Amino acid sequence: MTTFRIAPSILSADFARLGEEVRNVVAAGADMIHFDVMDNHYVPNLTIGPMVCEAIRPHVQVPIDVHLMVKPVDRIIPDFAKAGANIITFHPEASEHIDRSLQTIRDHGCKAGLVFNPATPLHVLENVIDKVDIVLIMSINPGFGGQTFIPHTLKKIAQARKIIDESGRDIMLEVDGGVKIENIAEIARAGADTFVAGSAIFGKPDYKAIIDAMRVELSK
Ligand code: DX5
Ligand code: ZN
Repeated sequence: MTTFRIAPSILSADFARLGEEVRNVVAAGADMIHFDVMDNHYVPNLTIGPMVCEAIRPHVQVPIDVHLMVKPVDRIIPDFAKAGANIITFHPEASEHIDRSLQTIRDHGCKAGLVFNPATPLHVLENVIDKVDIVLIMSINPGFGGQTFIPHTLKKIAQARKIIDESGRDIMLEVDGGVKIENIAEIARAGADTFVAGSAIFGKPDYKAIIDAMRVELSK
């Protein structure tokens, strides 16, 4: 049976009360915290860095899933590992040497992953699959929360599922962008097991009600 994980993106949390927000969302049933790092260079937005990761680390026991939307990638990896990240993913377009970036993440004791934008093909996976612990499929163009799920990415999720199954490796398949109660079951049917949701969770007052409703959809 598939283990489904829900990873609330703190991009839509109240940054003025971030410690409380992450504690509340974990108490509501979150399996991990998704941490969106944007640099106003690789993506047109600027968010949070290792200092904020370090600040929330003592507030939660669950893994912190750092999604790097930065270019270059490599020099920030050790800082996030020191700050308590458990998973670090990056976009292959943002790294000059993808194998090296994956290896650097693993050398720092974190799970490593690649993130694929809606228009980015998956072929990079072929050569580095042995160093990949997580594949993240973007179902929106990265940079902002609250966007609408792009339907053609369902096909990409299914392709990624096939590649992962054929590898025989234990690799998480995460989906990020526009995930809601209404579409989570369809995304799971395409092959995803890990679901990032920002505005769908932090945009509502009762986090537990949303996460519970997502789990009901996943159990159908
Ligand atoms: C966007 C981020 C996402 C974002 C998702 O670039 O990677 O994690 O926060 O937000 P929602 O769930 O609102 O689409
Ligand atoms: Zn993200």
